[in-house]
Amino acid sequence: MSSIVQKEIEKYVARTPGSYKRQKEAEKVLPGGSSRGTAYFEPYPHFIESGHDHYIVDVDGNEYLDFMINATSLILGHANANVADVIKDQADKGVAFSGPTDSQISLAKILTDRIPSVDTIRFTNSGTEGTLMAIRAARQFTGREKIVKIEGGYHGSHEYVAVSVYPSKNSLDPDKTTAIPEYSKQPASVLEDVIVVPYNDIEETARMIEENSETVACVIMEPIVSSFGYTPANLDYLEFVREITTRLGIILIYDEVQSFRVAPGGAQELFGVVPDMTTLGKIIGGGMPVGAFGGRRDIMDLFDPTNGGADIAHAGTFNANPVTMRAGEVVMNALTPDVYEAMNNLGEKLRNQLRAVFDELEVDAQVTGVGSLFGIHFTQNSIRNYRDVVNTDSDMKRAFFVGMLNEGILLQSGAAGALNVFSDENHVNQLVNSARKVVQRIR
Ligand SMILES: Cc1ncc(COP(=O)(O)O)c(C=O)c1O
Repeated sequence: MSSIVQKEIEKYVARTPGSYKRQKEAEKVLPGGSSRGTAYFEPYPHFIESGHDHYIVDVDGNEYLDFMINATSLILGHANANVADVIKDQADKGVAFSGPTDSQISLAKILTDRIPSVDTIRFTNSGTEGTLMAIRAARQFTGREKIVKIEGGYHGSHEYVAVSVYPSKNSLDPDKTTAIPEYSKQPASVLEDVIVVPYNDIEETARMIEENSETVACVIMEPIVSSFGYTPANLDYLEFVREITTRLGIILIYDEVQSFRVAPGGAQELFGVVPDMTTLGKIIGGGMPVGAFGGRRDIMDLFDPTNGGADIAHAGTFNANPVTMRAGEVVMNALTPDVYEAMNNLGEKLRNQLRAVFDELEVDAQVTGVGSLFGIHFTQNSIRNYRDVVNTDSDMKRAFFVGMLNEGILLQSGAAGALNVFSDENHVNQLVNSARKVVQRIR
């Protein structure tokens, strides 16, 4: 571990004895102390006591200005009173039933009205299930097996998307993108069915799709890649992927689990490129566990059991439970066009101010992001794809993340984050001033 990281970690350890104690206790009963790989960072994560508005408080009483907001999902902040009210009300009426409720019609109406590609929708309990079902639908609809995904793209934890997600630098073939297993014993048959293409590279993506045109069921991609610090695709790349998939009868799936928050109809509305299917999660459940997949009616009809049985079975004990549906409805109704505009303008301000700080300190850094989403990369090269991201200065990133925690600012461990409706200029200034302080320490 480099000395800049070590110094920040020492400070962190001094501030978090209660978390350390709990981590040791947790490790006895949970591998690594938690149920979520992404919750862990070295030396150990801080355990959370509570949250309110823009803030969380850990078990040692440290307060953090939270730009992680549970992986962008809490767009109305923590413990939002209106969300809490409907959750409490529904808790009194019953939290889950085997039959449908009005609440899922309401949320489905809102989402189908807003999202250009979504004629009908189904709810799940995670984004993972959303992408899993969308891919299954594409396979059934086209009668083909292969899926195309972007190198470095994350779409949840199921088998066919767990390929070339965070491949290490030395596993990459310098000449081309390849399907790299996520774990060493991943079945070879999975890797054979996944074609991995480079983001924003029209020529190479075209070559790989054309070569497999008879066997590709779908392209799944984020129009704004979360794991690249919310790097958007070039518009000509989005338009090219739309054109080639239409021409070859391939289903285009936009994973908008995160990017949906950039506009009322998501990134597809912002960029004006409409996929065949869309997957959702995060903000649409009001902070409760959620996912969804939707799209063209003719594709989604594969799930319709009313005409002698569905082509694809889709069950789920907690799917569309009324607690999640009602919490989601509160969020969607709060997100008016004015709210998006204010959050997105503030996001632009934040990105510009961060760039100005890095310029002032003469530190090689790139600031990416769209709307209320931002990412920071310590490199002099611009970010267009996974290889650009993997070649950034990882020690600086780690030191920056822990350094920001020491300043009372919570980011994603990849030095990215999101605003919420409580964010204002003071919060942005606090983030920017802390970034200046931390970079001065760790550079
Ligand atoms: C783009 C994207 N797709 C899918 C998922 C999976 O969602 P979940 O964690 O709800 O399974 C995530 C989660 O972070 C995501 O960011």
